[in-house]
Amino acid sequence: MKILKNLCAITCLVLLFTVLIPLPAQNTRIISNFCNDWKFHPGDAADAKEKSFDDSGWRTLDLPHDWSIEGKFSNDYPASPGGGALPGGIGWYRKEFTVPPSYKDKQVFIDFDGVYQNSEVWINGQYLGKRPYGYISFRYELTPYLNYGDDENIISVKVDNSLQPNSRWYSGSGIYRNVWLTITDNIFVDQWGTYITTPRVSKQSANIHVNTKIRNAARHDRQVTLTTTIYNTEGEKVAEVVSDDLITKKSALEFDQDITVTRPVLWSIENPYMYKAISLIEWEGTLYDKYETFFGIRYFSFDSNKGFLLNGKNVKIKGVCNHHDLGCLGSAINSKALERQLEILKDMGCNGIRTSHNPPAPELLDLCDRMGFIVMDEAFDMWKLKKNPYDYNLFWDEWHKRDLEDLVLRDRNHPSVFIWSIGNEILEQWDSSGIEMTKELVDIVKNVDNTRPVTSACNFPEPSNNIIKSGALDLIGYNYHHNDFTAFHTRFPGQKFIAAETNSALATRGHYDMPSDSVRIWPEQWDKPVKGNPDYTCSAYDNCHAGWGSTHEATWKVIKKYSFLSGMYIWTGFDYLGEPTPYWWPARSSYFGIIDLAGFPKDAYYLYQSEWTDKPVLHVFPHWNWDNVDTVDVWVYTNCREAELFLNDKSLGTKKMMPEDLHLMWKVPFTPGKISAAGKTKDKKIIRQDIYTAGAPAKIILSADRDTISADGRDLAFVTVKIADNNENLVPDADNLVSFKIKGPGFIAGVDNGCQSSHEPFKADYRKAFNGMCLAVIQSNEDRGEITLTATSEGLAEASLVIRAK
Ligand code: GAL
Repeated sequence: MKILKNLCAITCLVLLFTVLIPLPAQNTRIISNFCNDWKFHPGDAADAKEKSFDDSGWRTLDLPHDWSIEGKFSNDYPASPGGGALPGGIGWYRKEFTVPPSYKDKQVFIDFDGVYQNSEVWINGQYLGKRPYGYISFRYELTPYLNYGDDENIISVKVDNSLQPNSRWYSGSGIYRNVWLTITDNIFVDQWGTYITTPRVSKQSANIHVNTKIRNAARHDRQVTLTTTIYNTEGEKVAEVVSDDLITKKSALEFDQDITVTRPVLWSIENPYMYKAISLIEWEGTLYDKYETFFGIRYFSFDSNKGFLLNGKNVKIKGVCNHHDLGCLGSAINSKALERQLEILKDMGCNGIRTSHNPPAPELLDLCDRMGFIVMDEAFDMWKLKKNPYDYNLFWDEWHKRDLEDLVLRDRNHPSVFIWSIGNEILEQWDSSGIEMTKELVDIVKNVDNTRPVTSACNFPEPSNNIIKSGALDLIGYNYHHNDFTAFHTRFPGQKFIAAETNSALATRGHYDMPSDSVRIWPEQWDKPVKGNPDYTCSAYDNCHAGWGSTHEATWKVIKKYSFLSGMYIWTGFDYLGEPTPYWWPARSSYFGIIDLAGFPKDAYYLYQSEWTDKPVLHVFPHWNWDNVDTVDVWVYTNCREAELFLNDKSLGTKKMMPEDLHLMWKVPFTPGKISAAGKTKDKKIIRQDIYTAGAPAKIILSADRDTISADGRDLAFVTVKIADNNENLVPDADNLVSFKIKGPGFIAGVDNGCQSSHEPFKADYRKAFNGMCLAVIQSNEDRGEITLTATSEGLAEASLVIRAK
């Protein structure tokens, strides 16, 4: 909740209406969320750009919106299962609004955080422009074309995601990120107009450099005063600087200011402490703009021998790569859904996010700032050489400079951003054009921000790689090749290392193929003896991975051992839509996640938790319901020094975790009843886990991740649904169909069960359980009250729970 509130605070004032509200007495900017009450039409409508167009038959909806996620799965869409087997196409959006006459002297801008893709925008029939890249944020000025008073204005947006395949994963389609209306006076801080760096930081003091680009849109030159004040998290003023300068009419000027903060609180993973700079712009004693910038004070370096150092201390980057979709919500951004993902990851001990392979939603970085993640902010998945016929290669020549520059301009104040990545597995690695292109891209980044290293995620980590050969990268990024990590300095003497992408281990939650110590590698061993599993599952014993990757344990063992290896970004934290390696249709989402698409951890989650956190961890698996199996491999992930296993309370012996061990394993003759593991924590407490053989499905158990949400029309509660026997044991293979009913001020935003080959819709009020579990996501509307969710299933005792919308 706290984070949501903070996010709102950044935006100064959030207004959610079609009619704009007059400016407050003091002249400051207004940033209003511009997402409610849009009209939407799936398909083309050439005249919809005209103001007079009749859209009364169109659907009314609130943004962010992804129309693909509302579709039915099919193998026939051009996106293919690789793109999530969901529809693309063309869609139109329109929004009507009025502007009070008092705004006549103001500057009005519309800011899109991201539209996938090829968006074109008109205001009152006037063309504003096109922005092909689906992940970039962009702005148009509306001022010259606005009507004031009762005469309404119409924004029309055409989104064209019809040429596919254009992505190697699910992209979603539509205005899938937030839209803002920004209103300023005619002297104002330009878009992304502040740049705050901390050139010298010590315990005693920090030098803060603030660069502010101020635009004077007036018809006269103006002598402007810029006051920059720094506030700490507690809201106390800690420093201030005032500057004066003349800005000639219709131009912009950059101000440079230096401020000292004494005894700064440094931003770190454990204490992601934020400061806020407020820039006040005055002319002749009148306030013209007030602009907020959040930033952190920290220093860091990558060292060829010591790895990554944050504030002088060694930190291993224990990160994950994620794509941008939010499972059953599709790519429609929702802060709460992102926050939940980060909470689950943080609880695992994860401290890093790679925004693979594109500019993220701004909210993700806000959350990473406040939750303490080390972000690798990535620009592209391809340059000029294509990976798919209609991908970004088509826009490269015209747009790459602008897109890369805008990404860095937008994100450079985030303390969580530590690395820029100019691309993932770029094909120019093998092409001599890669040398000059790398130099150009690195220059573009450095020109806008030279405080962070630039990398490129290379899957050809050899000196002959043209991107590396350019000599322009600060960090050499390896994708996979964990067996080559130790030879890094022989190959690249004196260079700095990051494992930009690792593992590609494959698993389906709750599915286990034995023997657990026999590793199945795709594609090498996939056809032997059968082509995968007939039910499109992968084993969750950490014994299944893509040929270019490794098991979870194999890569972590190397990263853990050598301090020059700064850290890793595992492919992936969460399953995502699309790329269902090792399968294809009917599978339609990925198997790579440590956590499934519904947000339920797979077993490997506890491997990392046992290694990456100090909390006592003892996780025993698999389930204890087996047919026709004589011996079961029982694994324990733990950070206890040893663990004892019991079958029906009879000890099967104690095993010690040897220094090289990341799990313990027993081969246990199967007898129904109970399998238990117990261990002693560092402070000598016994922790224990029992798994019982479950009986027949008898009841539904519901639990929500929060019992109170805000009545803002956006907030979410994630409800986990478990199918249990009479004794409340999870039934590990239950696939009962669960129906949901909602009473009160909320609705079901999505349902899921983490099954990678399910073709049930995400937007529904029912879902089959998969391996005993499913998920319902409840969203508030704008009314307060109690939202009651009731879940029923034939033959099972129903369950309900109440979420309060406040
Ligand atoms: C990598 C690639 C990722 C994903 C992954 C699957 O090579 O960078 O985007 O495709 O393979 O294993």
